Amino acid sequence: MTSADSQFGLGYSAAPSRTSVTMPGHAIPKPFKWNPEFEVFYAQLDKEHQGLFDGIAAVDGAKGDAGKLKELIHLVEKHFRNEEKAMDTANYECKAHKDMHAGFEKELAGLPNPVQQKHTDFAMDWLVQHLKDTDFKYKGKLKLDK
Ligand SMILES: [Fe+2]
Repeated sequence: MTSADSQFGLGYSAAPSRTSVTMPGHAIPKPFKWNPEFEVFYAQLDKEHQGLFDGIAAVDGAKGDAGKLKELIHLVEKHFRNEEKAMDTANYECKAHKDMHAGFEKELAGLPNPVQQKHTDFAMDWLVQHLKDTDFKYKGKLKLDK
């Protein structure tokens, strides 16, 4: 028994539980702004991704502003549908990718007003990991203007 166990006297670990936010991943830019390391090299999608960074930063900077959250939800929806259409047009397999989009949209739709720091931290982390781990896979495979 370790000292961490014994302080509870119950025999199980006192290690804190881990959530997805604390999992190792790509670094979150501070301030939260798009930069060329997120480039997918399609002008429209890069522009929309910049808008998502700005939209999340706007919600983070005004947590009680329901209008900013609504605007972010609208931007996310518009972008996801455009990106999905581009993947479909290129016959790029994207069922799992679409499911990730739907999951994030569901999270956003369920956020309270005002949002809390943990919510905007989650959104920032989701976008960064999604861009680099998932969106990056379609680089060079879509039929969109560069
Ligand atoms: Fe995506």
